Amino acid sequence: MNPSDIVDIAKGEPDFHTPDHIKQAGIDAIHYNFTKYTPQPGIQPLREAIAIKFARENGVHISPDDVVVSCGGKHSVEQSIRAMVGPGDEVLIITPHWFAYPAQVRMAGATPVFVEADRDDDYIPDAWRIRDAITSRTRLLILNSPSNPTGAVYPEETLAAIAMLALEHNLHVLSDEVYERLVYEEARHVSLASLNEDIAQRTITVNSVSKTHAMTGWRIGYAAFPRGLAEKVVDIQKNSTSAPCAISQRAALAALTGDQSHVDLMVDAYQRRRDWLLKNLEGIPGLAWTAPRGSFYCFVGVEAWKGKRLGSVEVLDSVTFADALLKGAGVRVLAASDFGAPEHIRISFAVGDDALQEGLNRMKAFLS
Ligand SMILES: Cc1ncc(COP(=O)(O)O)c(C=O)c1O
Repeated sequence: MNPSDIVDIAKGEPDFHTPDHIKQAGIDAIHYNFTKYTPQPGIQPLREAIAIKFARENGVHISPDDVVVSCGGKHSVEQSIRAMVGPGDEVLIITPHWFAYPAQVRMAGATPVFVEADRDDDYIPDAWRIRDAITSRTRLLILNSPSNPTGAVYPEETLAAIAMLALEHNLHVLSDEVYERLVYEEARHVSLASLNEDIAQRTITVNSVSKTHAMTGWRIGYAAFPRGLAEKVVDIQKNSTSAPCAISQRAALAALTGDQSHVDLMVDAYQRRRDWLLKNLEGIPGLAWTAPRGSFYCFVGVEAWKGKRLGSVEVLDSVTFADALLKGAGVRVLAASDFGAPEHIRISFAVGDDALQEGLNRMKAFLS
């Protein structure tokens, strides 16, 4: 198939452009020669703006000294894991999970331990299962709500149960909240660290401007750390990237402190596409899903296709299913084997109305 005929409904980044006022802040930074190295934890006005944002939007009260700005949420997750664990340590990961967590745990020399969350429970993890997975070696638990890939948004009572477990077992929690603003219907995002001061002092809250402000290429993430931990992370950052890009930090400052109307516009569009997607998945045979409450993904089980032929391909798992779809219908979806779910695919509704509709229509025609 000609590559230009392929419809991509796999991509995990906003189809929207970075808003103009944010771009202008980057242009101004260049114009006024704000192009040198910055302090290693990030520029002070940005750390202050992040501390204010955490207090105002998340109910998480921290000092700017406990904030480290990084080269993306992924970088914040990676260097937080590296600061927290090493060989011999175990890290709990709720599965299905974002693909990078286990790899980053292994890069730190530690061992990932997976705790399954089920489709029948809307992928909300069960605290008893988490408890059963805790050993004397467990040091860290990684949470991601709203979730990539499942779209789950953890209710406050689930977070409260997890907080109790973490405190009981002296665990730290890394709470990856990069999709916090992208929630739909009645779902409400709650930051784990907002529950009480004890859990706040065991939680690293990671966030990023990538998804909320359509800034994936600017590479700015940030994290709020329990007192005393930021220094450890700065020590890692100073020996790796030195600091994030000066120009992008100025743009991120504009994103956090300037006009926010673009966020609502994007969320409205995602909500509309999500509703359209859910309605139109209905008519396609052999798929199983639960409605995403957050992020911009729909996680779809394809286990009913196992052992069947689709075009020239025999379906064995999500990789072969995705391959058949690409070859037979020219539709690219993400096979979720790296997400700990080998019988699932992920459809993104951040790809734009036209691509989403064309992709789904082709899928329907091919699978029907
Ligand atoms: C769950 C999750 N965390 C973190 C990130 C990192 O985003 P970025 O590094 O662009 O800030 C992503 C990106 O896809 C993600 O899906």
